[in-house]
Amino acid sequence: MKEKLKQIRNKAESELKLITTKPELLNAKSKIIGKKSELNSLMKNIKDVAPEDRREFGQLINETKNYLQDLIDKRTIFIDELIYKEQVASSRIDLTMPGRKTVQGGLHPLTKTWREVEDTFLSMGFEIADGYDVEDEFHNFDALNTPKDHPSRNLADTFYVGDDLLLRTQTSTVQIRTMENNQPPIRIIAMGRCYRNDKMDASHSPVFHQVEALVVDENISVANLKDTLNIFAKTMFGKNTKSRIRPHFFPFTEPSAEIDISCVNCGGSGCRICKNSGWLEMGGAGMVDPSVLETCGIDPEKYTGYAFGLGIDRIAMLKYNIPDIRVLFENDLRFLKQYR
Ligand code: PHE
Repeated sequence: MKEKLKQIRNKAESELKLITTKPELLNAKSKIIGKKSELNSLMKNIKDVAPEDRREFGQLINETKNYLQDLIDKRTIFIDELIYKEQVASSRIDLTMPGRKTVQGGLHPLTKTWREVEDTFLSMGFEIADGYDVEDEFHNFDALNTPKDHPSRNLADTFYVGDDLLLRTQTSTVQIRTMENNQPPIRIIAMGRCYRNDKMDASHSPVFHQVEALVVDENISVANLKDTLNIFAKTMFGKNTKSRIRPHFFPFTEPSAEIDISCVNCGGSGCRICKNSGWLEMGGAGMVDPSVLETCGIDPEKYTGYAFGLGIDRIAMLKYNIPDIRVLFENDLRFLKQYR
């Protein structure tokens, strides 16, 4: 009997030594001290033992059972430690490893230009006004003195989205919206998208950006317009940049003019960019036609005003030396990364 128990102990000891995982340990436990274990079946034999020996028999079995339970507990602790060490080893952080490079984004050249234009006008005391991309014919054409049969109203030039709804072809719509709701002094700029049914090429895009300026007050003259354009040109393109205006026609200004600045590439001596003229065309301008003031409820006897509109895409292309307007809208990262 004692021999048998000793055998059980030895067997359990050598078995447990080899065990390194929790499931194996559970298995072994039921084999060693579980219901179907050899030890348990020995215990059941107690009824066959002579009454006077039963006490000692029971004691021996209990001792063995306690001893085995103890062995199993120790092994459990050993395995727990093993698992913990493995976890620590596998999650260790190597502080000497080089960091991962993060990719930093940047502003689109158009956004940069937009902000610079905005800052320049804000520094001259202009306020920001806003309009709508989707407009009615009144604000895009009628109130701007554009005759019903003017070619720019044509389907071939303007995107119509409804009977009396279109995508604005110019930010001059904001002149009207501002004057409808405000009396002079008015000194605003409006920036935003404009849409024209143009074929896309290196210098045209069906969607482009304009900045519109409008100043209405007593005694506003062409001299004020020229002064503002000059300051703007010098602030955006450097102090040697000059601006000039040339006679032109717009239905809503009288007189009307086109705006040029001296070529930012050659300084005026003539090059490929300015087609040897020394000048670059930037947009349109003029004195607000008295009939436009009147339509908006502003007294043309008392007030005069100037207005102009410039292409923001054009400014961006000149500032960042971009030869083709299309790249501004393609979102090609290889292009955009240059301006980070
Ligand atoms: N709206 C005109 C255009 O898009 C430009 C302009 C603005 C002309 C203001 C005169 C005054 O061509």
